[in-house]
Amino acid sequence: MPQLPLLRADVSLQPLNTFGLAARAATFAVIESEEELLALRHSSHWGAGPALVLGGGSNLVLTRDVAGLVVCMANKGMTMRKTPDAVLVECKAGENWNAVVDATLKAGIGGLENLISIPGSVGAAPVQNIGAYGVELAQRLESVTALDCAAGSLVKLSRDACQFGYRDSLFRRSPGRFLITAVTLRLPVPWQPNLTYGELRSLDASSLSPAQVAQKVAAMRKAKLPDPGEMPNAGSFFKNPVVPCERLDEIRVAYPDIVSYPAGAGTVKLAAAWMIEACGWKGRALGQVAMHERQALVMVNRGKATAAEVLGLASVVEKSVFEKFGVTLEREPIVI
Ligand code: EPU
Repeated sequence: MPQLPLLRADVSLQPLNTFGLAARAATFAVIESEEELLALRHSSHWGAGPALVLGGGSNLVLTRDVAGLVVCMANKGMTMRKTPDAVLVECKAGENWNAVVDATLKAGIGGLENLISIPGSVGAAPVQNIGAYGVELAQRLESVTALDCAAGSLVKLSRDACQFGYRDSLFRRSPGRFLITAVTLRLPVPWQPNLTYGELRSLDASSLSPAQVAQKVAAMRKAKLPDPGEMPNAGSFFKNPVVPCERLDEIRVAYPDIVSYPAGAGTVKLAAAWMIEACGWKGRALGQVAMHERQALVMVNRGKATAAEVLGLASVVEKSVFEKFGVTLEREPIVI
């Protein structure tokens, strides 16, 4: 009979979310292996399933205590396998994302360099389809292994089955249905750099290594994005809204400098950070929360933020952007 994980009652989640919000879990389990997860799934402790699955807690805003079971994925392991046209990297969900990026770069394998320094765990990465500097996880993903919570067994989902979109996936749209236990990445050989993002365009593709791209990306992130270890935050607080091209044309009449990117099929993605800054919120605080002074899209906890302050600032920023541009912002982190 496989071992059940240790179940603890009334556990603080404050050190387990990078926004640093105070909340408690009624029941809490750290999962070290798939076997432990399956044992828990088939035990009476499972109930209706976990109310929350935690990875690195870096894309999470906890506005309340969690009444049910909170599961923290901590299973570890990573293997690399060469095929004729790619390196396949299988990583367990509890691995740190950036440690995986580092390990591939140290092995001389390119493909993940644009995604360096993103906080969080491997298992959380497909949920929001992490993306940065011109690359999304979906472009490097082969498959996801997950517990099908209803069936009670592990399943392997292909990239197509994961239904990825911009900061979106099947996992995000159907919370509670799957619990990710491992991710397999496909890193194409030969390596081709992706230098489509503005500041990367100046690099010379003919004499570049993945490690050099990684160094540049890490420096850009450090210059703009607050380190959650120093200033608690959950990364971008809003998505960049996707609107019809005609909407952009209307906005441009009054705001010709608005930043936008093509998003396919007659749509454009608007830079939410630009709109938030244009509304005067960049670097502005309301109590213990603020929109960051170097990246207006990131809300930061100045110390002792409460959930009410977080939701309050989010609402007034949304209201300002809607009143000025007629655009609705969507929150990017998972809000509990
Ligand atoms: N901008 C402003 N004011 C600001 C910040 C940016 O006007 O305070 C302008 C910039 O000048 C630029 C545009 O807005 O023209 C876009 O800014 P940036 O390239 O910094 O990226 P972003 O669109 O704000 C997205 C991701 C980030 C990712 C960066 C880089 C989302 C929700 N966010 O931000 O991801 O690191 O691109 O690729 O798509 C995250 O998801 O948590 C995250 C940090």
